[in-house]
Amino acid sequence: AEDGYKLWLRYDKIDNPVLIEKYRQLIKGYSFKGNSPSIKVAEKELNLALNKLLDCEIQTLDNLRSNVILAGAHKNITLNLPEEISNKLKTIGDEGYIIKTFETEGKRITLITANADIGVLYGTFHFIRLLQMQSDIDNLNIVESPLIKLRLLNHWDNLDRTVERGYAGFSIWNWHLLPDYIDPRYKDYARANASIGVNGTVLTNVNANSLVLTKQYLKKAAALADVFRPYGIKVYLTARFSAPIEIGKLSTADPLNPEVRKWWKEKAKEIYELIPDFGGFLVKANSEGQPGPQNYGRSHSDGANMLAEAVEHYGGVVMWRAFVYDNNVPEDRAKQAYNEFKPLDGKFKDNVLIQVKNGPIDFQPREPFHPLFGAMPETPLMMEFQITQEYLGQGTHLVYLAPLFKECIESDTYAKGAGSTVAKVIDGSLDNHALTGIAGVSNIGNDRNWTGHLFGQSNWYAFGRLAWNHNLTSEQIAEEWIRLTFGNKNEIVEIIKNIMMPSRENTVNYMTPLGLHHIMGWDHHYGPAPWIKDKPRAEWTSVYYHRADSNGIGFDRTVNGSNAVSQYHSPVSEIFNSLEKCPEKYLLWFHHVPWDYKMKSGKTLWEELCNHYYAGVDSVRSMSKKWKQLEGKIDSELFDHVSMLMKIQEDEAVWWRNACVLYFQTFSKLPIPEGFEKPD
Ligand code: GCU
Repeated sequence: AEDGYKLWLRYDKIDNPVLIEKYRQLIKGYSFKGNSPSIKVAEKELNLALNKLLDCEIQTLDNLRSNVILAGAHKNITLNLPEEISNKLKTIGDEGYIIKTFETEGKRITLITANADIGVLYGTFHFIRLLQMQSDIDNLNIVESPLIKLRLLNHWDNLDRTVERGYAGFSIWNWHLLPDYIDPRYKDYARANASIGVNGTVLTNVNANSLVLTKQYLKKAAALADVFRPYGIKVYLTARFSAPIEIGKLSTADPLNPEVRKWWKEKAKEIYELIPDFGGFLVKANSEGQPGPQNYGRSHSDGANMLAEAVEHYGGVVMWRAFVYDNNVPEDRAKQAYNEFKPLDGKFKDNVLIQVKNGPIDFQPREPFHPLFGAMPETPLMMEFQITQEYLGQGTHLVYLAPLFKECIESDTYAKGAGSTVAKVIDGSLDNHALTGIAGVSNIGNDRNWTGHLFGQSNWYAFGRLAWNHNLTSEQIAEEWIRLTFGNKNEIVEIIKNIMMPSRENTVNYMTPLGLHHIMGWDHHYGPAPWIKDKPRAEWTSVYYHRADSNGIGFDRTVNGSNAVSQYHSPVSEIFNSLEKCPEKYLLWFHHVPWDYKMKSGKTLWEELCNHYYAGVDSVRSMSKKWKQLEGKIDSELFDHVSMLMKIQEDEAVWWRNACVLYFQTFSKLPIPEGFEKPD
């Protein structure tokens, strides 16, 4: 039985007898050139994969013969290679790779080559994926390189192994047993990440604990870095801004104080002695009560630049988060990050990235793109997506997130006219930045299957694939993941794809349709609670966001309201500002709309809102029906696991619908439209 531990690296025997025989003919052996740890793990991976997928011993060959896989960095390949390969190598950087079938001296060779050994590892994983997906490998001609440089997971993991917004058990980092005990799981984590191109990991929570910067913990982080290094994965840590006080015994953390600056420089030196390829720091400052430079009357740039100076000598970066808000600012929360950061454009050192969440509030089921994208051309902006489903049903709801990620990166900021997509901001092409990045808040925990819900694995997978190539479609990625996870029977693939593809929209419908947001349960963010009020901070209440009253519902962010629309470039600002032109999916995000407003469908807003909530429930029910068709056709443990969770999701979709419809009805005072079952 299958417990999901192996993720998308299951390497089950190819179930097609004709194909397996063909593959055996085409892969007589392999030869890896080079001796680095990355080459060694690549060879080991290919050996494992071939022996299992082809169910026969495939060995390394010293002498080149026909039908072998030849893998190695260009400089280590002694064969005369076709000229086009050398030309292409010049364009693909250190992480890119080429997989090419060609003939030399009458021998058929499948070459996996790159400029650096890490590219060979990535190419090896790609080749394995082709076999897993039962693709044609007769005549390969693949050239790949990542569009974004830093492709990171952000673990919100605490040193006591609890995970902020984690729904898959405890942290996989066993700080207690590190550095001496290396859980084999760390290596599997690295394999899985390398297979999708993730090249960095921030080990600790953004709500940081200074202790991780003490020698004792740095040694533990160094042990993890040693495991990850062959896989091209760098370790990063979160830096608590007040660390110089808490662990450095200084009386201040003022970023302009020479003692404080010296302390960080020495800390950086100490870190790099233990972790020579340490990636750098991720910082949450002056947000949700975290300390930061503003405590000393300094700016975000003063703070970021101090840390950047400490790590620049070693090639490290600082990822400074734009997720800031403060209740002393009587401003629409959606506007605060832009207000604080836009004026600082051009004031950051070259090794600073500003890490911006996809939307201006907080990882909601649906948000418009963050207005900072396109607003800071002088500064590399990193994307921060959330893979863990804090606001999307957490560990129990099946929600495939690639459509959410894609919706954001395909949005057009119009910063430099039409076509200035968020994707071009973050891949550096819009404003010519070489330093680029994307981060995903991890959904990984110590559950056997890593992510709690099996389908959480698809979101980890999708994040990595999109971080590598944001031009892939959600559907392509879903199809890959399904084939790697459930095998290649088309009937099964189609059913599961039909479950995954609409799943995010389903959840928007039963939770927060038409631009509603942040009406989840108080603090834990699970389940509906649009009624929350009377909290010390306005943004801690739900009523702050939906603003339902007897006239209508929605947050007026137009020029007559909070004017958040003005943070977008024209024509986006005018479109969002216009009641008629604003896409209905964002309607209540930007407008306070009367209950009897006529929607595009001809229905009133109230009827339309009900429609969405009811449609959300119906779609979860039909999703369950589709899943039931898989009984007996897929592994029974996986089947049962998902079936049980879907039952919860179905009940909770009803819970969401009833709670929201009944609560909003107390304002609209309108009946539930005919034909709908009665909520209770
Ligand atoms: C959300 C989340 C917090 C987290 C914060 C952040 O608000 O609920 O738990 O700390 O985001 O991104 O910093």
